[in-house]
Formats: sequence, C-alpha cells, structure tokens
Amino acid sequence: MRTHKHLSAAAAGAVVLALSLSACGGRDDSDGDKTGSAPAPGASGSGSAAAGGFAKDSVIGVSLPQKTSENWVLAENLFKTDLKAAGYKPNVQFANGGVSEQQNQISSMVTNGAKVIVIGAIDGSQLNTQIKQAHDAGAIVIAYDRLLLNTPNVDYYVAYDNFKVGELQGQALLDGMKAKKPNGPYNIELFAGSPDDANAKVFFDGAMKVLQPKIADGTVNVVSGQKSFNQAVTQGWKPENAQKRMDTLLSANYGGSKTIDGVLSPNDTLARAILTSTKSAGKPNPIVTGQDSEVESIKSIMAGVQYSTINKDTRNLVKQAVKMVGQLQAGQKVDVNDTKSYNNKVKIVPSFLLPPQIVTKANAKEAYANDPTLSKIVNAGG
Ligand code: BGC
Repeated sequence: MRTHKHLSAAAAGAVVLALSLSACGGRDDSDGDKTGSAPAPGASGSGSAAAGGFAKDSVIGVSLPQKTSENWVLAENLFKTDLKAAGYKPNVQFANGGVSEQQNQISSMVTNGAKVIVIGAIDGSQLNTQIKQAHDAGAIVIAYDRLLLNTPNVDYYVAYDNFKVGELQGQALLDGMKAKKPNGPYNIELFAGSPDDANAKVFFDGAMKVLQPKIADGTVNVVSGQKSFNQAVTQGWKPENAQKRMDTLLSANYGGSKTIDGVLSPNDTLARAILTSTKSAGKPNPIVTGQDSEVESIKSIMAGVQYSTINKDTRNLVKQAVKMVGQLQAGQKVDVNDTKSYNNKVKIVPSFLLPPQIVTKANAKEAYANDPTLSKIVNAGG
C-alpha cells in the first residue's frame, strides 16, 4: 500500500512520517533512488539466499490468487515458461479455493525447498505465518502485483505503479465525459475493487486524487452520495457484485430520464458488468474506465462502448519478476527503482514499479502494437 494516507497510528514514527509527508506531494516520480539496488533482503535476516545465491535448477514457487481477471491466467503460463527456460523448476499454483488454499500452497512450496516464492495474494494480510515459514527456511519472498501487508518477511515487491493506475483512470473519466459533453456538471458513480486486495484502495486513492477537486468544485456530482472506499468496494472483484450494486444505484438515483455520465471502474471485468447494468436499465452508455486490457474490453472499446482501459503488459511484469529471481540465484543485488512508496505497515518494501499506460480507442493501435492478440482485435476495428 502506498505510504501516504495509509499509515496506521502505530506506524507513525518520525522517519515514516517524513516519508508520508514527502509522498503526499505527489507520486514516486520524485524518488531520489531510481537507480539503486535493494539492501540485502529480509529484515529478519534469515533469508540469506541472496548473499550466496542458489542452484540454478532450484524450485521456484509462484502462488497466484483466484482468476479474477485475465492477467492472472496469462501470468500462470508466462511464469511456467520463463522460469523453465531459465533452468529452474517452477511450481506455479492458483488458489481458486480461497485464502486457506493459498496458505497451504505456500507451506508446501516451503516444504518442497523453494528458494524463492513469488506471491500474488488473495488477501495480503493473511499469509504472515506462511511467509515467516518461508523466511525461516531461507527462502526469499517476492510480492507480485499485490503487496503483502503487516509482515517483515516480504523482501521485494514487483508491480505496475498502482497509484498511477488510479490517477490515469480518474483522468480518463474526466477526459471522456468532457469529450462527449463539453460542459458539466457530470453525474457519476464510483466503484472500487475487493477490500482484501491491497491494490484496491491504492487504485481508488489514485483516482480520487484526480476526482476529489472536481467533486469539491461541483463539476462532478456523485449522485448516490457514495463517495467512500468502503461504500464503493466490490467484494471478491466479482462482476455480479458490481452489476448488482449498479442496478441498485440506478434504480434509487437515476429514475426517469436522468442520465449517468460516467462510472469509475477499477478494472475491465467490472467495467463490462457496469455497462451491462446501464444497458438493461435503458440508459445511454456512460463513460466507463477499466484496467487490464482484457480481450472483451478491447473489443468493447473499439466498438465505442467501454471508454478506457490500462495497459499493464503481463509479459513485462513476469519478466521483471523472473529477472529478480535470476539476480537472487546469482547472489547479486536485486534491481529496484522505488524504496519509498510501499509501506506494508511494518517496513517499506523495496519495489520495482513498471509504468502503466492509459488506452482509449484513440491510442489502442500504438499501445498494443507488440501484442499479437490485441493488435489483431484493434486492427479488425473491434
Ligand atoms: C490487479 C488488477 C486486477 C485485479 C483483479 C488487482 O490486484 O492489479 O490488474 O484487475 O487485481 O484481478
């Protein structure tokens, strides 16, 4: 979770406070340490594998959450292929059954002697026992895409810059509405992801940084009044939950010919559910944001229905994670480019953040030029 606005009172030591204040002024663009390498991993010190490296044919565990969006499915295959190609023995698992399944998977990866465990957590604060086990056994723990919270036993974080994702979504919502209707005020509703996913609040906060001033000056009106993260959440990132909430919001607040101009949606799966709801209520399509560049959403964007998505190429994220594994294997320092932003309430986790890109119909062709699947859809016009 981003340092700013997420600090618990307990974490408010002087150093942390200073970090918080510096982060409040903006994003990590101002980070001094863009080039540095991380300190030796593991505050606990037991994960000393980085110092000496480990055998090239070691087991590398990858524990992924539920398949709540296409990026996770893509990651599974990429991890298997890329880790194998580098000579490791990959053990890549999904935890479709939920948190306890993920806990068991990680424990068994430790038992199987995994040297590095890469984790995309369902719930970033429910794996502390298992990742302590991993550290005690000398394994290195990398949080993948979603941060692991409240633990000293996470060594690195690799992700697209989640706060930036939110900012891009907020800005796209404003731009899309303005392009359609030059003058406000605009009627909107806000959706957030699942509260157990550490990313969900970060996306929401990034978007609200952009939207809040427009809400305050009356340009944008959240008609339902549901402006807080807790009111906006979508449990389990489930599209049926978003659709149900949108149905309720529309029937309670958008009777008759009242239009809804825009909806902040944190990802593509939920964007499509929201658009299904507005359509069945007989409303013209609002401007709806998204994330993940899912196939169905790219088709929708090209057809002029969904407005935007975010390009977070999973191939590059997996590549960076596998590069970290390689550096650990060779006993080298691990490349990070951010040592300020991600405070998990116990430590600031050295991170490698990749830049997300906003995509609308206008730039889809360039954005997906090197993605064979998506460029085919874009070139076919949807
Ligand atoms: C990921 C998003 C994804 C969401 C639901 C988040 O943690 O960063 O890309 O849409 O989970 O799967």
